[in-house]
Amino acid sequence: MPNTINIQRRKLLKYAGLTAAMAAAYPFLSYAESMAMGNQASKDFDPDVEIELTQEVAHVPIFKGPETRIWKVSGKVLKGPEAAIENHAASYIAPTIRLQKGQKVRIILKNNLPAQSILHWHGLHVPSKMDGNPMYAVDQGQAFVYEFTILNRAGFYWYHAHTHSVTAKQVYSGLAGLFIVSDAEEQALDLPKGEYDVALAIQDRSFDNQNQLHYNNHMMQRMQGFLGDQIMINGQPDYILPVATRAYRLRLLNGSNSRIYKLAWDDGTPMTVIGVDGGLLEHPEQHAYMMLAPGERREIWVDFSGKPVGTELNLRSLPFESSMHGGMHGGGMMGGRGMMGRRGMMGRRGMMGGRGMMSGGDLPLGGDYAVLKVKVSRQVQAQDKLPERLTTIKPLRLQDAANADNPRNILLSMRHMSALLNGRSYAMDDVRPDEIIPVNTLQVITFDNGFSGGMGMGMGGMMAMPHPMHIHGEQFQVLRREINPGFRSGHESVAAGFVDSGWKDTVLVMPGEKVTILKPFNDYTGIFMYHCHNLEHEDMGMMRDFLIK
Ligand code: C2O
Ligand code: CU
Ligand code: CU
Repeated sequence: MPNTINIQRRKLLKYAGLTAAMAAAYPFLSYAESMAMGNQASKDFDPDVEIELTQEVAHVPIFKGPETRIWKVSGKVLKGPEAAIENHAASYIAPTIRLQKGQKVRIILKNNLPAQSILHWHGLHVPSKMDGNPMYAVDQGQAFVYEFTILNRAGFYWYHAHTHSVTAKQVYSGLAGLFIVSDAEEQALDLPKGEYDVALAIQDRSFDNQNQLHYNNHMMQRMQGFLGDQIMINGQPDYILPVATRAYRLRLLNGSNSRIYKLAWDDGTPMTVIGVDGGLLEHPEQHAYMMLAPGERREIWVDFSGKPVGTELNLRSLPFESSMHGGMHGGGMMGGRGMMGRRGMMGRRGMMGGRGMMSGGDLPLGGDYAVLKVKVSRQVQAQDKLPERLTTIKPLRLQDAANADNPRNILLSMRHMSALLNGRSYAMDDVRPDEIIPVNTLQVITFDNGFSGGMGMGMGGMMAMPHPMHIHGEQFQVLRREINPGFRSGHESVAAGFVDSGWKDTVLVMPGEKVTILKPFNDYTGIFMYHCHNLEHEDMGMMRDFLIK
């Protein structure tokens, strides 16, 4: 542990080793603070809940036959309610964490992996040094202690590795789990609870014929992002959700590295959306389908009453145009959708085609395939009514933004082997003047994905791809979406599936789009990241730091 502190201090002193003016921009770097780096438990913090998470190499029985080697996170409650941790034994998915708003939590992360690693609490509003920035990665045999209060409202958050340049590989190997926060307001609502409140992580993976995870890291795979040939739900293949004839609250996380889903019920029932990344919406919304990009969460309400026992229902991903070349269809390097889906290597189950779920195991982005199978298996008496009002969401107003007349524009671009934000690649100690934000302000931010550029090709011949943009810290609101007319035809295949109301931390920015958000930067100073949540893009450099001061 002393060693860890030294490493952390060295990293921070590197930050401090800038000009005097810049050093003044890092008030959090006092000597005392850099010593209390958050990698040691502090005596004056009395947690309500104390959790230990251990990361190690493990072999788990995901399929019949050989066990799968994964990077396993195991959880243990050291103090507080046992229900705070739910381990998933026969799966690669990390434990589910369940906490209450207002709780003080200490999480001891023990890294026994043969690699550096750090965990980030996606969607939680925590101090900078508790946020899992890559600069805090710890080595094998070392620990990082997080201490924070849950300030977030009830919602479906998650956590995952955030290690410099290897986030995609580490998440893929198993370093990601669900993080559910509840609060009194939510509990008072008449929503399905307990076993009728189901949280599901949707991910795609590829396994070889020895049941081992296969991660393809070729150039094209990195440019588009990893696409597996098998859909996993909570780290399990061929997942079937058994339900009773009543209403359910289903929480869906897209925990995939790059895959975007266009989700719809196969019997034509509309999706009744009740929540997004940062918790419940004010009112339920009905959508024929919904887009779910990596990092995003969606909560839906679905009533199975009246369906005969034995009924099967599928949540499918419907076809959509994923790489739009406004006016240039079929041209360009990534021409046409699904190019990356037709890889040479097919998974064992794909070759056998025996699962009856996926078409040949070949799952191109924007293809048509089943995601989740639901089976009505039990008759119960229930009269469930969806509340018409779920919460109150105060709309943020543009005129309250500190930079109302001067939005911070973030230009998304891709070139050969690089993915950039405002033309820049990620670097660990590289905050630029336009990345410094005054604390306790509301900011208007635009993500421009070829909106201001030319037809289909943005600035300097970049490729037009969807980018799910995420900002750490507090949740934001989406103000508007604009589309470059040159992209309109492809855009029609996704446009009805955005759920832009409520509190968000990740927003899908399609090719040709400009999305404007309003984001508060309250309470905490320090470094907070913003990046594309296509994890291959993130690792390729499509990530930067904001400095809040
Ligand atoms: Cu899930 Cu930096 O993000
Ligand atoms: Cu995050
Ligand atoms: Cu991206």
